Amino acid sequence: TSQPIYSATWQSPSNLAIVKYWGKKGQQQPINPSVSFSLSKAVTTTTVELILNDNRGTFSFYLNNEEKLSFRDKIQRFLNHLGHEIPFIQQYHLRINSSNTFPHSSGIASSASAMSALAFCLADLHQQVNPEEKISRQTISSWARIGSGSAARSVFGGWNLWGKLPEIPESSDFYAIQLTDKIHPLFQTIQDDILIVSGKRKSISSSAGHDLMHGHPYQQGRIKQAHNNTFLLLQYLENGDWEGFSNLAENEALSLHALMMSSNPAYTLMLPNSLALINKIKAFRQKSGLPVTFTLDAGPNIHLLYPREVKNKIKTWEEEELKPLCENETIICDHIGEGPRKI
Ligand code: PMV
Repeated sequence: TSQPIYSATWQSPSNLAIVKYWGKKGQQQPINPSVSFSLSKAVTTTTVELILNDNRGTFSFYLNNEEKLSFRDKIQRFLNHLGHEIPFIQQYHLRINSSNTFPHSSGIASSASAMSALAFCLADLHQQVNPEEKISRQTISSWARIGSGSAARSVFGGWNLWGKLPEIPESSDFYAIQLTDKIHPLFQTIQDDILIVSGKRKSISSSAGHDLMHGHPYQQGRIKQAHNNTFLLLQYLENGDWEGFSNLAENEALSLHALMMSSNPAYTLMLPNSLALINKIKAFRQKSGLPVTFTLDAGPNIHLLYPREVKNKIKTWEEEELKPLCENETIICDHIGEGPRKI
């Protein structure tokens, strides 16, 4: 094999949505705005090398240095889309090597961190090949979006908004914008303890779930709800309104799952212990008055959310009451993070 001519390595985090992106239109645009924060420990590190050999315009993909064929289609579609914007894709062989800090079967989606890291590598390489051209974060976000919608929100640290909200003129369906300068300190230290109910691959993929929003009987209501929730969430984040936030986070999470349960065909991703954990969290909140809430992504795992200042006050309860309900007693503790970085 030939030596690489150019090489770039980037690390990018996964993110956790509070207002959920669910349903697409056009070229991977969302039917509603979504808001998330970037995580700190759940990251993908990717190296892309440009190699000049007889296999121009092709790529190889390695996960932890082992060739992985199962992700090829997704990456191929991504590179096909970007080919006209990034000419080097046709001029070199791309050797892509990725690794995740979180296990593949941990129930944490790796597509947001992976597609964001890949988009940063491509932007970096594009600038190496064309030193006069600068690629903006906005463009990187729009590239990441093509790979996986939620990846658009992984290109910045802190809190991010993706999708057009009429009240925010700079928001867009094509890329995410960062909200960090409008965030109350309470939400700048938010913790995300991921209570693993099952690490198994989910029975219905997110792509299939997005597709089922076409012609969904509650589609218009959902779009309206997400707009209202986004607008409200921005106020709560700014004012430090934990109660408003907590109520909204749970409303969004359960609405997401309600949309799945009312799709055609209908399906469920929650498991008995997902509900048991939700009830434990609600009961503890009522009894202790402490600011704990939860959300779920498109899967059975529960994300326990709280500000850092109450960490010590909830540890014993978490260990004694929540841990036994988790698969192999697995809880992955993460928190809001600073975003991607070049390695
Ligand atoms: O980016 P996708 O296509 O994997 O969709 C992710 C959808 C949710 O995680 C359920 C919600 C979100 O906004 O991240």
